[in-house]
Amino acid sequence: MKKITVSGLLKKKQAGEKITSLTAYDASFAKMFDEQGIDALLIGDSLGMVLQGESDTLPVTIEDIEYHTRSVRKGTERAFVLADMPFMSYATPEQTYANAAKLMAAGASMIKMEGGSWLCETIQGLNLRGVPVCGHLGLTPQSVHVFGGFKIQGREADKAEKLLAEAKALEAAGIQLLVLECVPSSLGKAVSEALSVPVIGIGAGNDTDGQILVMHDMFGISANYMPKFSKNYLAETGDMRKAVQQYIAEVQSGAFPSPEHSFE
Ligand code: KIV
Repeated sequence: MKKITVSGLLKKKQAGEKITSLTAYDASFAKMFDEQGIDALLIGDSLGMVLQGESDTLPVTIEDIEYHTRSVRKGTERAFVLADMPFMSYATPEQTYANAAKLMAAGASMIKMEGGSWLCETIQGLNLRGVPVCGHLGLTPQSVHVFGGFKIQGREADKAEKLLAEAKALEAAGIQLLVLECVPSSLGKAVSEALSVPVIGIGAGNDTDGQILVMHDMFGISANYMPKFSKNYLAETGDMRKAVQQYIAEVQSGAFPSPEHSFE
């Protein structure tokens, strides 16, 4: 079994093969997803909403992510594992280095941070210290109160242009992966074409280099609500392993996300 690395993910983009990804928070699900052949697992701060019952991701702490990263790492043999830096855990470069070190020591192979060009210096500093970084643009849930709700981003031409410029700035600073959330499909395509690094979409249409879903949404068991961009694969298959297999197959074939699960 060949372990998926960051260069393996890049090769997939270069070969035009879609990258499949899910969130995971514990060893049992991580093992099951890994065995079905998922490429990447994210210990997302979405755990605040789907595990802790919070209404947003802001209360999640670095200790929460560290704890769940240890569990996911133990269940994972093949998939690439990345972990979220929670709200306000990367406000300054020094704070970021200390917190990223905790997640890398817990078993992450990359950390993810939400935000644009204000993060460039921190990204360079992390890379120099041996920490690979995934960016996150579009609907960045930690900024929900700035956006005034969980809203689609980049619909207006000037906002789309700004987002594209931010994505290029993050790439120039050294990100090796980008998560792009809740943007029109046309913008998902433009960003994926403009960057050399893989772009993993969630509600960003099916022209991105891969897809990620929150595992509870993919199983249709989230406590709060089901986002439009997600699909309940458990309802379709009636079996957790089959649900994951079908999700992987539909991402790889480009069947998911369909226009029904995308934004204009
Ligand atoms: O926290 C999370 O699970 C995420 C994904 C939705 C990409 O950031």
